Amino acid sequence: MQDTKITTLLSQDWETAAPQEIITATVKALGTARVLLASSFGAEDVALIHMLVTAAPEKPRVFCLDPGRLRQETYDVIDRIRSKYDLPIEIYFPDTADVEAMVRERGMNLFYDSIENRKRCCGIRKVDPLKRALSSADAWITGLRREQSVTRTQVPVMEIDTDHGGILKVNPLASWRDAQVWEYIHTHSVPYNALHPMGYPSIGCAPCTRAIAPGEDPRAGRWWWENPDTKECGLHKR
Ligand code: ADX
Ligand code: SF4
Repeated sequence: MQDTKITTLLSQDWETAAPQEIITATVKALGTARVLLASSFGAEDVALIHMLVTAAPEKPRVFCLDPGRLRQETYDVIDRIRSKYDLPIEIYFPDTADVEAMVRERGMNLFYDSIENRKRCCGIRKVDPLKRALSSADAWITGLRREQSVTRTQVPVMEIDTDHGGILKVNPLASWRDAQVWEYIHTHSVPYNALHPMGYPSIGCAPCTRAIAPGEDPRAGRWWWENPDTKECGLHKR
Protein backbone atom coordinates (compact mmCIF):
# COMPACT_ATOMS: atom_id res chain seq x y z
CA MET A 1 0.00 0.00 0.00
CA GLN A 2 2.72 2.44 1.01
CA ASP A 3 4.73 1.31 -2.06
CA THR A 4 1.92 2.46 -4.35
CA LYS A 5 1.74 5.79 -2.57
CA ILE A 6 5.50 6.23 -2.85
CA THR A 7 5.36 5.41 -6.57
CA THR A 8 2.59 7.97 -7.04
CA LEU A 9 4.60 10.65 -5.24
CA LEU A 10 7.69 9.83 -7.30
CA SER A 11 5.77 10.02 -10.56
CA GLN A 12 4.97 13.70 -10.03
CA ASP A 13 7.19 16.58 -11.08
CA TRP A 14 8.21 18.44 -7.91
CA GLU A 15 10.95 20.53 -9.47
CA THR A 16 9.11 23.83 -9.29
CA ALA A 17 6.98 23.03 -6.24
CA ALA A 18 7.47 24.97 -3.00
CA PRO A 19 9.11 22.97 -0.16
CA GLN A 20 5.96 23.39 1.96
CA GLU A 21 3.89 21.81 -0.83
CA ILE A 22 6.31 18.87 -1.10
CA ILE A 23 6.24 18.26 2.65
CA THR A 24 2.45 18.55 2.86
CA ALA A 25 1.96 16.06 0.02
CA THR A 26 4.40 13.57 1.58
CA VAL A 27 2.80 13.67 5.02
CA LYS A 28 -0.69 13.46 3.53
CA ALA A 29 0.17 10.43 1.40
CA LEU A 30 2.23 8.43 3.91
CA GLY A 31 0.98 9.60 7.31
CA THR A 32 2.75 11.81 9.86
CA ALA A 33 4.05 8.91 11.95
CA ARG A 34 5.91 7.31 9.04
CA VAL A 35 7.66 10.45 7.76
CA LEU A 36 10.81 11.35 9.71
CA LEU A 37 12.76 14.59 9.44
CA ALA A 38 16.52 14.19 9.83
CA SER A 39 17.87 17.23 11.61
CA SER A 40 21.40 18.28 12.42
CA PHE A 41 19.81 21.59 13.52
CA GLY A 42 21.61 23.59 10.85
CA ALA A 43 19.78 26.43 9.07
CA GLU A 44 18.09 24.19 6.49
CA ASP A 45 16.87 21.78 9.14
CA VAL A 46 15.34 24.34 11.48
CA ALA A 47 13.47 25.86 8.50
CA LEU A 48 12.23 22.36 7.58
CA ILE A 49 11.11 21.73 11.16
CA HIS A 50 8.94 24.84 11.01
CA MET A 51 7.49 23.73 7.65
CA LEU A 52 6.77 20.23 8.96
CA VAL A 53 5.20 21.47 12.21
CA THR A 54 2.96 23.72 10.10
CA ALA A 55 2.08 21.02 7.55
CA ALA A 56 1.52 17.97 9.75
CA PRO A 57 -1.95 17.39 11.22
CA GLU A 58 -0.38 15.62 14.24
CA LYS A 59 2.90 16.09 16.10
CA PRO A 60 5.61 15.34 13.54
CA ARG A 61 8.70 13.18 14.11
CA VAL A 62 12.12 14.82 14.08
CA PHE A 63 15.30 12.90 14.84
CA CYS A 64 18.90 13.91 15.43
CA LEU A 65 21.94 11.65 15.39
CA ASP A 66 24.13 12.76 18.29
CA PRO A 67 27.65 11.46 17.60
CA GLY A 68 28.71 12.58 21.10
CA ARG A 69 30.97 15.33 19.74
CA LEU A 70 28.53 18.15 18.89
CA ARG A 71 29.09 21.80 19.86
CA GLN A 72 27.29 23.23 22.90
CA GLU A 73 25.58 25.75 20.58
CA THR A 74 23.98 22.82 18.74
CA TYR A 75 22.65 21.31 21.96
CA ASP A 76 21.30 24.77 22.85
CA VAL A 77 19.31 25.12 19.62
CA ILE A 78 17.98 21.56 19.94
CA ASP A 79 16.46 22.50 23.29
CA ARG A 80 15.17 25.86 22.04
CA ILE A 81 13.36 24.15 19.13
CA ARG A 82 12.15 21.40 21.46
CA SER A 83 10.45 23.85 23.77
CA LYS A 84 9.25 26.38 21.18
CA TYR A 85 7.41 23.74 19.11
CA ASP A 86 6.78 21.30 21.98
CA LEU A 87 8.54 18.58 19.99
CA PRO A 88 9.98 15.44 21.58
CA ILE A 89 13.13 15.31 19.42
CA GLU A 90 14.21 11.70 18.88
CA ILE A 91 17.94 11.59 19.71
CA TYR A 92 20.02 8.62 18.58
CA PHE A 93 23.40 7.84 20.12
CA PRO A 94 26.03 5.52 18.69
CA ASP A 95 26.54 2.00 19.98
CA THR A 96 28.67 2.36 23.14
CA ALA A 97 30.72 -0.82 22.60
CA ASP A 98 31.56 0.18 19.02
CA VAL A 99 32.77 3.65 20.06
CA GLU A 100 34.79 2.21 22.94
CA ALA A 101 36.51 -0.33 20.69
CA MET A 102 37.22 2.30 18.01
CA VAL A 103 38.86 4.86 20.31
CA ARG A 104 40.76 2.17 22.22
CA GLU A 105 42.24 0.93 18.95
CA ARG A 106 42.68 4.24 17.05
CA GLY A 107 42.59 7.10 19.57
CA MET A 108 40.14 9.86 20.51
CA ASN A 109 41.09 12.05 17.53
CA LEU A 110 41.44 9.28 14.96
CA PHE A 111 39.64 11.29 12.24
CA TYR A 112 42.69 13.50 11.65
CA ASP A 113 44.95 10.52 10.89
CA SER A 114 43.40 9.20 7.66
CA ILE A 115 40.25 9.32 5.53
CA GLU A 116 39.66 5.70 6.44
CA ASN A 117 39.66 6.59 10.15
CA ARG A 118 37.40 9.57 9.53
CA LYS A 119 34.91 7.43 7.65
CA ARG A 120 35.09 4.76 10.36
CA CYS A 121 34.22 7.39 12.99
CA CYS A 122 31.33 8.83 10.91
CA GLY A 123 30.19 5.27 10.23
CA ILE A 124 29.99 4.26 13.88
CA ARG A 125 28.80 7.59 15.24
CA LYS A 126 26.30 8.58 12.51
CA VAL A 127 25.69 6.10 9.69
CA ASP A 128 24.92 3.08 11.92
CA PRO A 129 22.51 5.04 14.17
CA LEU A 130 20.78 6.38 11.03
CA LYS A 131 19.79 2.81 10.15
CA ARG A 132 18.11 2.46 13.55
CA ALA A 133 16.42 5.84 13.20
CA LEU A 134 14.95 4.95 9.81
CA SER A 135 13.73 1.50 10.78
CA SER A 136 10.25 2.89 11.48
CA ALA A 137 10.08 5.20 8.45
CA ASP A 138 8.49 5.02 5.02
CA ALA A 139 10.10 8.34 4.12
CA TRP A 140 12.73 10.68 5.47
CA ILE A 141 13.16 14.38 4.85
CA THR A 142 16.60 15.98 4.64
CA GLY A 143 17.98 19.50 4.21
CA LEU A 144 20.25 18.63 1.27
CA ARG A 145 20.66 21.43 -1.27
CA ARG A 146 22.35 21.31 -4.67
CA GLU A 147 24.20 24.53 -4.02
CA GLN A 148 25.98 23.09 -0.97
CA SER A 149 28.84 21.21 -2.63
CA VAL A 150 30.23 19.44 -5.68
CA THR A 151 28.92 16.16 -4.27
CA ARG A 152 25.32 17.50 -4.15
CA THR A 153 24.73 19.18 -7.52
CA GLN A 154 22.46 16.34 -8.70
CA VAL A 155 20.27 16.00 -5.59
CA PRO A 156 16.69 15.19 -6.69
CA VAL A 157 13.62 16.42 -4.79
CA MET A 158 12.47 12.82 -4.27
CA GLU A 159 14.33 9.55 -4.69
CA ILE A 160 14.25 5.95 -3.53
CA ASP A 161 16.80 5.28 -0.80
CA THR A 162 18.13 1.82 -1.56
CA ASP A 163 20.52 1.98 1.42
CA HIS A 164 17.57 2.03 3.79
CA GLY A 165 15.21 -0.58 2.44
CA GLY A 166 13.82 1.35 -0.52
CA ILE A 167 12.05 4.02 1.50
CA LEU A 168 11.41 7.47 0.05
CA LYS A 169 14.01 10.19 0.57
CA VAL A 170 12.65 13.72 0.23
CA ASN A 171 14.90 16.74 -0.22
CA PRO A 172 12.40 19.65 -0.34
CA LEU A 173 15.12 22.35 -0.37
CA ALA A 174 17.10 20.78 -3.24
CA SER A 175 16.80 23.84 -5.47
CA TRP A 176 16.75 26.51 -2.76
CA ARG A 177 19.55 29.05 -2.38
CA ASP A 178 21.07 29.94 0.95
CA ALA A 179 19.30 33.33 0.97
CA GLN A 180 15.89 31.66 0.66
CA VAL A 181 16.60 29.50 3.71
CA TRP A 182 17.52 32.56 5.77
CA GLU A 183 14.55 34.58 4.53
CA TYR A 184 12.29 31.74 5.69
CA ILE A 185 13.99 31.55 9.11
CA HIS A 186 13.67 35.29 9.72
CA THR A 187 10.10 35.55 8.39
CA HIS A 188 8.93 32.80 10.76
CA SER A 189 11.23 33.66 13.69
CA VAL A 190 12.64 30.13 13.77
CA PRO A 191 15.42 29.59 16.37
CA TYR A 192 18.81 28.89 14.77
CA ASN A 193 22.29 27.78 15.79
CA ALA A 194 24.29 30.66 17.32
CA LEU A 195 27.36 29.50 15.36
CA HIS A 196 25.91 30.55 11.98
CA PRO A 197 26.56 34.29 12.42
CA MET A 198 30.06 33.43 13.66
CA GLY A 199 31.16 32.13 10.23
CA TYR A 200 29.78 28.59 10.34
CA PRO A 201 27.37 28.04 7.40
CA SER A 202 27.65 24.25 7.83
CA ILE A 203 27.88 22.69 11.29
CA GLY A 204 28.78 19.15 12.27
CA CYS A 205 30.91 17.68 15.06
CA ALA A 206 33.17 20.06 17.03
CA PRO A 207 36.54 18.54 16.02
CA CYS A 208 35.54 18.37 12.33
CA THR A 209 33.97 21.83 11.85
CA ARG A 210 35.68 25.21 11.71
CA ALA A 211 34.54 28.71 10.72
CA ILE A 212 35.10 29.76 7.10
CA ALA A 213 36.65 32.94 5.73
CA PRO A 214 34.58 35.29 3.51
CA GLY A 215 34.42 33.88 -0.05
CA GLU A 216 35.23 30.31 0.97
CA ASP A 217 32.99 27.43 -0.08
CA PRO A 218 30.09 26.96 2.42
CA ARG A 219 31.32 23.49 3.33
CA ALA A 220 35.01 24.46 3.45
CA GLY A 221 34.88 24.30 7.25
CA ARG A 222 33.76 20.66 7.34
CA TRP A 223 36.67 18.12 7.39
CA TRP A 224 38.76 21.00 6.05
CA TRP A 225 41.86 18.82 5.70
CA GLU A 226 40.13 16.61 3.08
CA ASN A 227 39.55 16.98 -0.67
CA PRO A 228 36.01 18.38 -1.45
CA ASP A 229 35.20 15.24 -3.47
CA THR A 230 35.45 13.00 -0.38
CA LYS A 231 33.55 15.27 1.99
CA GLU A 232 30.48 13.21 2.77
CA CYS A 233 30.03 11.43 6.05
CA GLY A 234 28.10 8.52 4.55
CA LEU A 235 24.58 9.60 5.50
CA HIS A 236 23.98 10.56 1.87
CA LYS A 237 25.51 8.20 -0.65
CA ARG A 238 25.43 9.21 -4.30
S1 ADX B 1 26.75 15.81 6.43
O1 ADX B 1 26.40 14.52 5.81
O2 ADX B 1 27.87 16.49 5.81
O3 ADX B 1 26.85 15.76 7.89
P1 ADX B 1 25.09 18.13 6.34
O4 ADX B 1 25.59 18.59 7.66
O5 ADX B 1 25.39 18.96 5.15
O6 ADX B 1 25.51 16.63 6.06
O7 ADX B 1 23.56 17.86 6.45
C1 ADX B 1 22.77 17.46 5.35
C2 ADX B 1 21.49 16.86 5.87
O8 ADX B 1 21.75 15.59 6.47
C3 ADX B 1 20.84 17.68 6.96
O9 ADX B 1 20.04 18.70 6.41
C4 ADX B 1 20.04 16.62 7.70
O10 ADX B 1 18.84 16.35 7.02
C5 ADX B 1 20.95 15.41 7.61
N1 ADX B 1 21.84 15.31 8.78
C6 ADX B 1 23.15 15.66 8.84
N2 ADX B 1 23.64 15.43 10.07
C7 ADX B 1 22.62 14.94 10.81
C8 ADX B 1 22.48 14.53 12.16
N3 ADX B 1 23.51 14.58 13.02
N4 ADX B 1 21.28 14.08 12.57
C9 ADX B 1 20.23 14.01 11.72
N5 ADX B 1 20.31 14.39 10.43
C10 ADX B 1 21.48 14.86 9.98
FE1 SF4 C 1 33.63 11.49 13.96
FE2 SF4 C 1 34.21 13.87 12.91
FE3 SF4 C 1 32.49 12.20 11.68
FE4 SF4 C 1 31.81 13.46 13.96
S1 SF4 C 1 32.22 14.39 11.93
S2 SF4 C 1 31.41 11.34 13.47
S3 SF4 C 1 33.78 13.41 15.10
S4 SF4 C 1 34.69 11.91 12.02
